[in-house]
Amino acid sequence: EGLPVYRNEPFTDFAIADNRKAMVDAIAAVKAEFGRTYPLTIGGNKVYTAETIRSVNPGNVDETVGYACKASKAHAEEAMGAALTAFETWKRAGAAERSSYLLRAAKLMRERKHGFSATMILESGKNWVEADVDTAEAIDFLEFYAREAIRLSETNEHRPLVAIPGEANRVEYIPLGVGIVIPPWNFPLAICVGMTAAAIVSGNTVVLKPSSLTPVIAHRFFALMEEVGLPAGVINYLPGSGAEVGDYLTKHPQTRFISFTGSKEVGLRINRLAAETSDGQIWIKRVIAEMGGKDGIVVDETADLDAAAAAIVASAFGFQGQKCSAGSRAIIVDDVYEELVGKIVARTRELEVGLPELDFPSGPVSDPLAFDKIMEYIDIGRGEGNLLVGGHKAEGNGYYIQPTVFSEVSPKARIMQEEIFGPVLAISRAKDYKEAISIYNDTEFGLTGSYYSQDEGRIAYATQEMHCGNLYVNRKCTGALVGVHPFGGFNMSGTDSKAGGYDYLLLFTQAKLVSRKL
Ligand code: NAD
Ligand code: ALA
Repeated sequence: EGLPVYRNEPFTDFAIADNRKAMVDAIAAVKAEFGRTYPLTIGGNKVYTAETIRSVNPGNVDETVGYACKASKAHAEEAMGAALTAFETWKRAGAAERSSYLLRAAKLMRERKHGFSATMILESGKNWVEADVDTAEAIDFLEFYAREAIRLSETNEHRPLVAIPGEANRVEYIPLGVGIVIPPWNFPLAICVGMTAAAIVSGNTVVLKPSSLTPVIAHRFFALMEEVGLPAGVINYLPGSGAEVGDYLTKHPQTRFISFTGSKEVGLRINRLAAETSDGQIWIKRVIAEMGGKDGIVVDETADLDAAAAAIVASAFGFQGQKCSAGSRAIIVDDVYEELVGKIVARTRELEVGLPELDFPSGPVSDPLAFDKIMEYIDIGRGEGNLLVGGHKAEGNGYYIQPTVFSEVSPKARIMQEEIFGPVLAISRAKDYKEAISIYNDTEFGLTGSYYSQDEGRIAYATQEMHCGNLYVNRKCTGALVGVHPFGGFNMSGTDSKAGGYDYLLLFTQAKLVSRKL
């Protein structure tokens, strides 16, 4: 009885010719669908709007991946109404029923995984492995939260309350209401699926406002949930302007919670707006906000330097540094500084930049705004450190930037403090491991960090002192796995919600104690 034990979805081995062929075919299939228009969906009704959002391939800006219809405030109001209506029945569906939709979706996503990955390759500029990992994480979230919802519904069996004579007591984790789900563009499937699935499997209904850069992959997920028969109105698909529709829904009196992942600036704005009580509002809105990072890898003189160099380059430049977990800082002790910097430079030079669909290790950044912002930071970096690699725009009909490394950067420099969200690595020198760790801690963020060492005493010190939600020892600081590395950060990195962990669904529920006199 029951579900098979949860296991992470394996990654695809693209060294196998059949797998490469399958991905080439999937990319061609997605291209054949280019230019389609995707409607809003409100309570199951398809709504086409005059104004649309053009989703561009950042690797080849002449290509339009699709057009997403663009919601107005009036559509947002309708979506809220549809979600409220659906909540009245969905909240009564049991955990097993709600989980069954996630499990069916996981099965279909697994069968069609290269199609989902190909959409991300073309819409967000991921290379094949990065896209495959994103799809695997999405499948993991569906499988993991399906099981978590069932586990939470059985809490009284697993964690019985203290018994007293004459009473029967139990705790029920009941849903909150209508949530607004606002994912970022950079894990446009995994995070969109994770936040949405967690909310609905807990019994809430949602308005899903995907990023305007990646509405097509979000639609692909939404369409899958329709296909598995999720009742209308449980998810309402509503692309639109963050400033217009996002603010409207954040302030709405019937919004019960907002689940946001994105930048610090937008996260803080949502937190502020959500704290204001609107007329007719009868609760304190819950805000789950996972935000940026200025993550880093600390290396001491006992470390395996080749392993550290590989991890630093993978963490800094994987998906062009556009991960909240990206290791955009390396802090290296004096004794091994020159040797390790040399290894980092050599590895960075090997990263060829080119079209994601041709699976180059480095691809484009997301859009013109990001391109300009990153190039500005590179200019700032020229005044703050020694430019060792890169520093320029790269060739291609898209937003390509060379992987860039600065050394001898002061811990207080802007490129050591501010999230750049692009392929830029800043390296600082420290006199010893304690100073290196204090430099690591000297930012307003606290998402991921790694410590490289072979000294148990120092590893113990680093484990205690490095202040971040996800601390890794002798491995890269990206690539958290669902169920294995619950993910979320401290300080300005967010509310430490620990996506993919056993505490996550509690954020989407409220506990009700029922005590009955016998
Ligand atoms: P962003 O903040 O620009 O946008 C995130 C989402 O917010 C998008 O859907 C956007 O449309 C929406 N939005 C914008 N203005 C809004 C408003 N006023 N009200 C409501 N919604 C609004 O971030 P992004 O560029 O999509 O993503 C990159 C950022 O996300 C980086 O800072 C990165 O570190 C962070 N991130 C964090 C995590 C994490 O788990 N901590 C994971 C991935 C990305
Ligand atoms: N969860 C992603 C990682 O760990 C962001 O890299």
